[in-house]
Amino acid sequence: MRKNIVAGNWKMNNDLSETETLIRELKSQNKISDAEVMIAPSFTNLWQAFNSLKDSTIEVIAQNMHFAESGAYTGEVSATMIKSLGVKTVILGHSERRAYFNETDELLAKKVDAAIKNEMRVIFCFGEELKDRKSGNHEHIVENQIKNALFHLEATAFKNIVLAYEPVWAIGTGETASPEQAQDMHAFIRKTLASKYSQDMANSVSILYGGSCKPSNAKEIFSKPDVDGGLIGGAALNADDFFAIVNSF
Ligand code: G3H
Repeated sequence: MRKNIVAGNWKMNNDLSETETLIRELKSQNKISDAEVMIAPSFTNLWQAFNSLKDSTIEVIAQNMHFAESGAYTGEVSATMIKSLGVKTVILGHSERRAYFNETDELLAKKVDAAIKNEMRVIFCFGEELKDRKSGNHEHIVENQIKNALFHLEATAFKNIVLAYEPVWAIGTGETASPEQAQDMHAFIRKTLASKYSQDMANSVSILYGGSCKPSNAKEIFSKPDVDGGLIGGAALNADDFFAIVNSF
């Protein structure tokens, strides 16, 4: 049985004191759904967040990492460093990493390998741009992003992989994919996994939706059979909104 997951990606928001405040507010929330809950603060606040949430059901995860174990990569952070804090999950392939930091499928395959080698769980993001959606090329784009970065893996590696479909045109724009658009793409992703691996394996992978997900639309999106939760940006910065989404299952 695959898991329902709601992960909050804080992106480059919240300094230390804002992180402490938001965590305090998150801890006072009541979780009534079965969803696994995660938050991804910035690297500088990971340790503080991890310690503050040690005894809670909210998992603290990282937003990115480098593929190398260590070395001359100024400004970068390795899987070993992240793991040494106790953090076990990392977001990879976010569209902002792809767009602003030139992260390619090839580079992402290396990052995924490094995470798997370090027994970390990966939330692997991908999604088409508006021009691809308009030209009807969206499935092709998504299929290639998944194949290029993940299809060299053994099926067993996918027990540590969560997929996050994030249409770029819906991220931070207020424009959400319709529940039907999300379901169609998630079903296509599952079919793509099944054709390479097996239907059982495809059915076991959680696929999250991301892109302007908020309390007012989460319930309908999460009600779709192939949508197993969300990767939340803006709405994850407000504890009430985030938990309204968590409790939308
Ligand atoms: O990682 C989260 C996604 O980029 C979604 O961001 O909810 O602000 O659109 P958003």
